[in-house]
Amino acid sequence: MESLKKHPRFAGVEGPVVLVVMDGIGIGRQDEGNLVHRAKTPNIDWLAEHAIASQLKAHGTAVGLPTDGDMGNSEVGHNAIGAGRIFNQGAARINTAIEDGVLWDGEVWRELTGNVKERKSTLHFIGLFSDGNVHSHLDHLRAMLRRAKDEGVGTVRIHALLDGRDVPPTSALEYIDDFEGFLADLNAEHGVDYAIASGGGRMNITMDRYEADWDMVARGWKIHVRGEGRAFSSAREAVETFRGEKPGILDQDLPGFVIERDGAPVGPVRDGDSVILFNYRGDRAIELSRAFDEDPFDKFDRGPRPDVKFAGMMQYDGDLEIPKKFLVPPPHIDRTIGEYLSKTGVKQLALSETQKFGHVTYFFNGNRSGKFNPDYEDYVEIPSDRCPFEDKPEMKAKELTDKTVEAIESGRYRFIRLNYPNGDMVGHTGVFEAVIRGIEAVDEGVGRIMEAVKKTNGALIASADHGNSDDMAARDKKTGEILRDEHGRPRPKTAHSLNPVPVYVYDPSGQSNARLSGHPDLGISSLAATSLVLMGYEPPEDYTPSVVEVG
Ligand code: 3PG
Ligand code: CO
Repeated sequence: MESLKKHPRFAGVEGPVVLVVMDGIGIGRQDEGNLVHRAKTPNIDWLAEHAIASQLKAHGTAVGLPTDGDMGNSEVGHNAIGAGRIFNQGAARINTAIEDGVLWDGEVWRELTGNVKERKSTLHFIGLFSDGNVHSHLDHLRAMLRRAKDEGVGTVRIHALLDGRDVPPTSALEYIDDFEGFLADLNAEHGVDYAIASGGGRMNITMDRYEADWDMVARGWKIHVRGEGRAFSSAREAVETFRGEKPGILDQDLPGFVIERDGAPVGPVRDGDSVILFNYRGDRAIELSRAFDEDPFDKFDRGPRPDVKFAGMMQYDGDLEIPKKFLVPPPHIDRTIGEYLSKTGVKQLALSETQKFGHVTYFFNGNRSGKFNPDYEDYVEIPSDRCPFEDKPEMKAKELTDKTVEAIESGRYRFIRLNYPNGDMVGHTGVFEAVIRGIEAVDEGVGRIMEAVKKTNGALIASADHGNSDDMAARDKKTGEILRDEHGRPRPKTAHSLNPVPVYVYDPSGQSNARLSGHPDLGISSLAATSLVLMGYEPPEDYTPSVVEVG
C-alpha cells in the first residue's frame, strides 16, 4: 500500500480536521416524531445555515446492504465511513452463500451437522429472533433448519433473543407465532424434533457489546446453555406472563426464560452438541462466542463448559479470531482512511464512550482490532454508564467533549474522529423526552468543538452513521400517519430510520475555499475523502468522492 499523495492545490487546514459522528441523528420530515427537529439545537442549526451543508445516504445499498429497504446501522455505517468505499455487508453475503449453496458446502457447516448426526446429539441455534436485518435475519435460520432437516438432523433447539429494537418494540409474539407454525410443519411432515428451548430480551441477556456488562452474557449462558431459569411451556407463555407482570415492558428488556417439557428443560447445551450463533453482526456476538471458545475464561463462572462444536454465522473479529469457526467469511476491508494516515505518518485520535468505542476504532478500521501503527494512533474510551440510557440521556457527552477539545487544542493530532452515541442509544429506548435531552447534549458538545476548531484554524465535519431519533413515531404502514396511544401521544418506534443524514463542513478560517463538489447521490462513504481533502491529501482513486472541493 502506498502513502497518501499531497493535494495538488491545497496544503490542508492549519489545525486538526475533526470528524464528528452524531450517531442516529438523521434528517427526517419535520413533524412530532422527529425529535432532532423538536430538540433545541442552536449549534447544529447554525451549521445548517452557515456551514457547507448537504445530505448523505446512510442506508441500503449506500452502505452495502442488500436493498434500499434496509435501514443502516452503526456497524456498516462506520465501515463505510472509515473505508471511504462501499463493501457488501453481512446480510448480502449470507443471502448469496445460501443461494449458491456455498454455506452448505463449507467445511464448518458439514462439521457441525456431521457431528450431531454421528452422535445423535442436538444442533442448537442461538440468535436475534427477528427480521430486523441488523444482527440477523430469521430467513437465514429458516433456511438452515430446512437444510438440517434435508440432511437428516433429528433434533434442533432454538434459543430466541427477542428484539424490539431493530423491529417494532413489542412485536415478539408475531415472530414467535409465525416461527412456531413453521416448526410445527417441519416436525409434522418430516418427523423431526425442532423446538424453541430458551430465550429472553436482547438487552437483558446475551447480547452485550464492548464488554459493557458481562453479567448480561452470564445470564444468557445460564438460560441457553445450562437451561436454568424461569420455566414455561412455550415462548408465547413466557412473553405473555412477563408482559402481565410488568405492563409496558419492551421486548428488548424481557427477562430470560427456559422452555420445559415433562418437568425438564427441553434444550440445554450438552457435551457432544453443535451450536451455531446465527447473528452475523459482530459487536453483540463476540462475548458469547468467547464464552464458548475460550479456555481459560475469567469473565464469569460458566460452570462445567459443555464440550461442543461452536460456530458463528461470521467471524466477528478477524484479528482475535473470534470465533474460531464460522459459516461465512467476512468482507475483507482494506486501505481504510486510518490505515492510509498511519502509513503516511499522520497522527490521528479516535474517541467515544464504551457503547460506540468499537465503532470509531474496530468498525471504522475495517473490522480490525488494534492499531495500524501505535506511533500515529491514539484511542480514548470513556466508560459508559451502566444504567438504562433513558435515565441518563446525556450519557458521557460532556466527558467526551472535554477530551476532544483538549485534544484539538493540544496540537498533537491532524485527524480526530469521535462518536456521540446519544441520538441512537437513547433513540432505541423510545422515551421521547430523554431522546430530546440526549440530542441537546450532543448539540452542546458540537458547539464546544466548533469553538475549539475555530481557535486552532482547524475544520469540522459533522455527520452521522444512520438515522434514528429523526423518525421516532410508529406510523400506519399505508397512510404514513402517526400511531397514537390512549393519551394521544405518538407510539414510539425504536428502530433506525431510513432517512439520509446531514453533513456539515465548517472551515472557520476559510483557508480551504471549500464548496460543494456537486457529486449526486453521495453516501456516508464520502466522509473519508472529505476528511482527506481538508487535511490536504488527495483521496485514493477508488474512494467515494469528497463532499467538498478545496483549493
Ligand atoms: C443495537 O445493536 O443496538 C441495534 O441493533 C443497532 O444499533 P447500532 O447499529 O446503532 O449500533
Ligand atoms: Co442503533
